[in-house]
Amino acid sequence: MRSRSRLTGFFRLGIAERRARLLEACGLPARRLEAIDPGALPLEVADGMIENVIGEYALPFAVAVNFVVDGVDVLVPMVVEEPSIVAAASNAARFARPGGFTTEASAPVMIGQIQIIDVADVDAAVAALRAQAATLLEDARRLVPRLANRGGGPVGFDVRILARPPGPDGGVLVAHLHVDCRDAMGANLVNTLCEALADRVASIAGGRPGLRILSNLTDGRTITVRCKIEENDAEVRAAVASASRFAELDPYRATTHNKGIMNGVDAVLVATGQDWRAVEAGAHAFAARSGAYRPLATWKDEDGALVGELHMPLAVGTVGGALHSHPSARFALEMAGIVPEGLHPSPPAEPAGSPPRFRHADRLAAVAAAAGIATNYAALRALATEGIQRGHMSLHARGVARAAGATGDLVERVAAELSACGDVKPDRAREVLARLKESP
Ligand code: MEV
Repeated sequence: MRSRSRLTGFFRLGIAERRARLLEACGLPARRLEAIDPGALPLEVADGMIENVIGEYALPFAVAVNFVVDGVDVLVPMVVEEPSIVAAASNAARFARPGGFTTEASAPVMIGQIQIIDVADVDAAVAALRAQAATLLEDARRLVPRLANRGGGPVGFDVRILARPPGPDGGVLVAHLHVDCRDAMGANLVNTLCEALADRVASIAGGRPGLRILSNLTDGRTITVRCKIEENDAEVRAAVASASRFAELDPYRATTHNKGIMNGVDAVLVATGQDWRAVEAGAHAFAARSGAYRPLATWKDEDGALVGELHMPLAVGTVGGALHSHPSARFALEMAGIVPEGLHPSPPAEPAGSPPRFRHADRLAAVAAAAGIATNYAALRALATEGIQRGHMSLHARGVARAAGATGDLVERVAAELSACGDVKPDRAREVLARLKESP
């Protein structure tokens, strides 16, 4: 399914009109919008998702417009509580639209860790494990035949020495099992494999099995996204490039710079039911992999344009996890054209030898990364020019006007007055609203 993402004036429409335009643009039937209606998640389903449920917690579900990712228009689903992020993403995507965002994804390879402790001779253990690596890998592949049929499965086995005896845990090794998870995020899959192999791996090493769990530093599952934004104003180009270099020089700034990236990435991950904590943990560890904490994205001033590149680990899945149960997450994937409408959230069984199908998870990672580089650009541009408070305050003023009871065009009029006098407070909004209603 192809969507049209250039929806001019979308932000000016009311919610009902936005929903109508969205349906028109993405071609989904109107009934699918029920998936993002208030109360769309049945309480008994919520009760089955986690423990001790007593209710639900709602957040706004929005769509960022103007995105072209790898040559295809995409309506980007975003769930987030912070104002400005969706507008910032949509604006940046409009500037990047001529060439769009282009991405390259690695194979979706996750790492499972098997810790082995109390190893008497760590060097002999490493040699023994390396000698058995091919057999261990073969056995691991036999444990996941369906995944292997879909072109995935265990693809590598490696071992490292973490400590030599003596020490509180004796000699410590860690074995890494590399697993191509295809469209799954893969946490369950990888954990199951690690648990299944641990006793054998420990016995080959002459030690005892310790932890068996995936690593969230998914540096084997990365995405790179690039874009080029034409900018005629040389001062603006220089200022954005300088802001990017600031992040390269200083971890305090790099952290905030990366937060601006995660504003876009996380909003897409939350909308699509992903484990965003896993992605956050991996992103920050990856940012620090050189020993210094560095920006995940950088911007350069090249030939009259700003050229941006974001490279980060992004482990996401379009089968399994919350997608089994969460109607809004499935809708988000359909709306973005990442999965076709009605795709079952479990991977279908495929006959042995059939070619790997199109990887939906790669597309989701590409869209989330595009949102991340877009929000990063918008933040840097604003910070390097007028500062972000003006834009923030006008959005905030609209929120305050609405909360004071303004509707329709009164929202803009009340917000404009609040911003003009610099007093963006509920009391003031109520006063302005009352006056405008009396003498329209
Ligand atoms: C605020 O949510 C994000 C920014 O701080 C990012 C940045 O400073 O680059 C504006």
